[in-house]
Amino acid sequence: MRFTGKTALITGGNSGIGFAAAKILIAEGARVAITGRDGAKLDQAVAELGENALGIRANLDNEAEVDSMAAQIKAKFGSLDVVFANAGISGPTPLGGTTAAAFDAILRTNLTAVFLTVQAALPLMSAGGAIVLNGSVMRELGASGTAAYSATKAGITEMAKVFASELIERGIRVNTVIPGGTRTPIWTRGARAGATIDGTEQAFAPRIPMARLATPEEVATAAVFLASTDASGITAAEIVVDGGTIGAPWGGPMFRKG
Ligand SMILES: NC(=O)c1ccc[n+]([C@@H]2O[C@H](COP(=O)([O-])OP(=O)(O)OC[C@H]3O[C@@H](n4cnc5c(N)ncnc54)[C@H](OP(=O)(O)O)[C@@H]3O)[C@@H](O)[C@H]2O)c1
Repeated sequence: MRFTGKTALITGGNSGIGFAAAKILIAEGARVAITGRDGAKLDQAVAELGENALGIRANLDNEAEVDSMAAQIKAKFGSLDVVFANAGISGPTPLGGTTAAAFDAILRTNLTAVFLTVQAALPLMSAGGAIVLNGSVMRELGASGTAAYSATKAGITEMAKVFASELIERGIRVNTVIPGGTRTPIWTRGARAGATIDGTEQAFAPRIPMARLATPEEVATAAVFLASTDASGITAAEIVVDGGTIGAPWGGPMFRKG
């Protein structure tokens, strides 16, 4: 039980990777605040997670809602040991077909809101605290049509290192989990509404050495490790959970001989 008596905030904890991380943290003794915009999904997640989960409905694109989230955590928990800034969105932003508003919306949620979340949570944190950001392999794949999303995830990698420098003297560690394609609802939302996760896996598997998407639990386990005292000597680092996608791309089925 690595998190007995500890408290955590997981943004986007009502779905996918964040929900999987909440399950692990609660199973290991933590009280966990989870956030999301969708109240029904939030209620359902809290019901599944049990009495050690606190649901906070917040659109983190809105600075006042970020501050209100921190105030609610202060009122309920008093302090925070762990922040997993995980909430994020995807969406196409091809050259020649993207409005400034569509581009900015992805930057706002994936980058600005992450900065504001960490900034708002910090007064509740003290020495021994841990922050984990959620990046993506998309930061370095040059995937057509993903300029905004890929840029935000490259930004997450560097922002985490800056945070690590700024917080080192306070004894707060900052690390990043870098997922590859993972089986979550992000693949069936927005512009991809109507797509299926199995169809997505079929389309991407040929490029993934492990020939499959990761499970949310596989990514969450790495994030929770970085948040735990098992990682007490680790800051400004990252764990890549991508089935070999960026480390050994030529191991993908489409490049294998025979
Ligand atoms: N799945 C993948 O293949 C993959 C790969 C690499 C990186 N990632 C990253 O992993 C993170 C988690 O995504 P996921 O795959 O678990 O997808 P997901 O199931 O769609 O979860 C995204 C979460 O973010 C929340 N969220 C989105 N916009 C928000 C906003 N403005 N304010 C508050 N909450 C917001 C969503 O809650 P509501 O819907 O209730 O707002 C949801 O809980 C993201 O940062 C994503 O970029 C995912």
